Amino acid sequence: MALLRWNLKLMVTLMMVNLFIFILISFNNSAGRNGPRKPHVPLKPFWTKLAPSSPYWNRQQQILDFQNNPILLANSSSAELPDWLNETSSPSDPCQPNLKVTTQVNDYNSLPPRFKDFLLYMRCRSYPILRDQPTICREPPFLLLAVKSIAPHIDRRQAIRQSWGSAGVVANMTVVTVFLLGDASNADYHPNLSEMVEYESKQHGDIVQWDFRDSFFNLTVKELLFLEWIQTRCSGARYIFKGDDDVFVNTYRILDFLKGLSEPRARDLFVGDVITNAGPHRDKRVKYFIPESMYVGTYPPYAGGGGYLYSGDLAARLHNVSQHVALYPIDDVYTGMCLRKLGLAPEKHKGFRTFNIEEKFRSNPCAYKSLMLVHPRTPQEMIQIWSWLNSPDLTCQ
Ligand SMILES: *[C@@H]1O[C@H](CO)[C@@H](O)[C@H](O)[C@H]1NC(C)=O
Ligand SMILES: *[C@@H]1O[C@H](CO)[C@@H](O)[C@H](O)[C@H]1NC(C)=O
Ligand SMILES: *[C@@H]1O[C@H](CO)[C@@H](O)[C@H](O)[C@H]1NC(C)=O
Ligand SMILES: *[C@@H]1O[C@H](CO)[C@@H](O)[C@H](O)[C@H]1NC(C)=O
Ligand SMILES: *[C@@H]1O[C@H](CO)[C@@H](O)[C@H](O)[C@H]1NC(C)=O
Ligand SMILES: *[C@@H]1O[C@H](CO)[C@@H](O)[C@H](O)[C@H]1NC(C)=O
Repeated sequence: MALLRWNLKLMVTLMMVNLFIFILISFNNSAGRNGPRKPHVPLKPFWTKLAPSSPYWNRQQQILDFQNNPILLANSSSAELPDWLNETSSPSDPCQPNLKVTTQVNDYNSLPPRFKDFLLYMRCRSYPILRDQPTICREPPFLLLAVKSIAPHIDRRQAIRQSWGSAGVVANMTVVTVFLLGDASNADYHPNLSEMVEYESKQHGDIVQWDFRDSFFNLTVKELLFLEWIQTRCSGARYIFKGDDDVFVNTYRILDFLKGLSEPRARDLFVGDVITNAGPHRDKRVKYFIPESMYVGTYPPYAGGGGYLYSGDLAARLHNVSQHVALYPIDDVYTGMCLRKLGLAPEKHKGFRTFNIEEKFRSNPCAYKSLMLVHPRTPQEMIQIWSWLNSPDLTCQ
């Protein structure tokens, strides 16, 4: 008897719930102005055939995207590929000049020489290493400081060694410093500094050098080779700072910041002076000029190449994804492109002052205490600021 009453109760409850759902649904339907909404069925296919972009970089990226798209690849025999996507490795050695660009880039002949050089070697991603430091990270450092330099800047390197780049144990953390160099022999009418670099490398054991022309447009090559180098020589580094040789870095502040990080921010860390909503300069007189025949579009958010900080974990992912991003002649923009491909964006930190600080603060020691990086500084200034920061007398409110 009790069981029957209980069953009855259950049935009534269920009916009430059903009624409630019914009311809910009819209410929702009547809310639409024209009754129930019909699914929208497109009349034409909503995808379009992939048309080639005309700017050279954009097209190279389309080809790479296509070649690395497992879904498209699974089901398209090369026979049905449009010609422009079927650009298989020609010439077979990507480090031979690719003469095809002379006709594929419509204004090739009128471009400044640096663009011609870049385009001819755009597919070359490996150059021989001339000087290596295979054991420099035998003890994996907490922080790896990597400085982009060129052979003649020996005074800058020395100032960095004597100041913010002093390797060893800094603020109780292990720090390793390396300088990244390209070719130092007498290309481009420069004097042949090979022997000087050899001597310096023997003295300090902190030079990593590759055999490519150390030009502005080849800084992307330097970035790729460095990402590769990290994986082979310093994959245990927790964090990496990469920057120019004309910046001052407050290593203490950086270490402080890093020690305070926790997961997951630490794993995906990429901070610097982030530039958003930028695009290529179209004025030929600007150092960063890029012609329309080469790139059209905006730039992803990127951290200014003066210096940025990222995790060793992210360095490995950047190294992998860079294989899928066509080389771009501006290295910090290129790194931004790689981050975007990973679905990440760099984080802006106001301690990175790649556009300097107000003039009136520049000779105030306390102004440097809370900064991470400031650009530009001469070798003399680096040593001066470092001694300020290390002075026991320095008291800032
Ligand atoms: C590939 O295409 C064929 C017909 O063109 C189809 O039967 C097959 O399911 C497709 N395979 C994949 C993985 O999409
Ligand atoms: C694509 O390239 C391969 C190898 O060069 C060639 O055999 C094939 O015929 C090409 N396909 C088209 C559509 O051009
Ligand atoms: C220095 O580091 C060691 C090991 O990482 C730790 O045990 C020690 O407490 C640290 N000392 C200071 C002063 O932070
Ligand atoms: C530069 O000097 C080094 C050492 O003397 C020499 O081996 C090298 O061939 C020179 N490079 C060029 C391009 O002359
Ligand atoms: C980059 O370096 C390679 C190797 O030295 C050189 O052939 C090429 O012209 C350089 N590219 C630029 C843009 O300087
Ligand atoms: C990078 O790629 C290699 C080879 O495909 C893979 O073994 C490795 O796990 C990848 N590393 C990261 C961090 O994605």
